Amino acid sequence: MSVIRTFIAIALPAPLQQKLDEAAGLLKNNQTRAIRWVAGKNIHLTLKFLGEVDSNKIAAISQVIQAESQPIKPFELSVGGAGAFPSLRKPRVVWIGVQAPQVLAGLASAIDRGTQSLGFPGEDRPFSPHLTLGRVSQNASPQEVQSIAQVLLNATIGKLGSFTVNQVTLFRSDLQPKGPVYTPLFTCALGNLP
Ligand code: 2AM
Repeated sequence: MSVIRTFIAIALPAPLQQKLDEAAGLLKNNQTRAIRWVAGKNIHLTLKFLGEVDSNKIAAISQVIQAESQPIKPFELSVGGAGAFPSLRKPRVVWIGVQAPQVLAGLASAIDRGTQSLGFPGEDRPFSPHLTLGRVSQNASPQEVQSIAQVLLNATIGKLGSFTVNQVTLFRSDLQPKGPVYTPLFTCALGNLP
């Protein structure tokens, strides 16, 4: 039996990924060299990270995605503003914000419940929608983390764009030396009920 690393996400339109690359470009300088930036083409909105999954579970996961996505009508999502987890003053993950109606959190929690019923662990933190732009290296010195915090506190990244979310995708993630490669395994359209 083969094992595949997977996650469920909302894919972004290519022009928005391009804007995210440009936003990262604005934050890249000597102070932020301890950040590993995510390539624009790899930026997505994660709904549920599943991790290593037996390939024989893919069909059941796809059914969960279908059951939870089909009843939801397409909705508008806009992207903008920068922040960091766990906080701007102690940045580890640099993100761009997501503004969406409540239906997005409802979709994420329905998928979380559905995948729990297949044996995946549930989320213990509330869903916090974001687009990961970069990750601060584990080896960053306290001074480097401090400089990154300063850059983020001074950054002014406004609205980058918006689009209509009309599908949910199950991605395969292959971790390669040059970075992860994400491949769609299954896509389900929203609102696709008679
Ligand atoms: P992130 O957007 O918050 O970084 C694919 O790896 C996606 O799954 C990433 O975008 C990442 O979310 C999310 N993810 C959540 N938990 C993860 C984990 N333990 N390891 C790797 N990725 C994880």
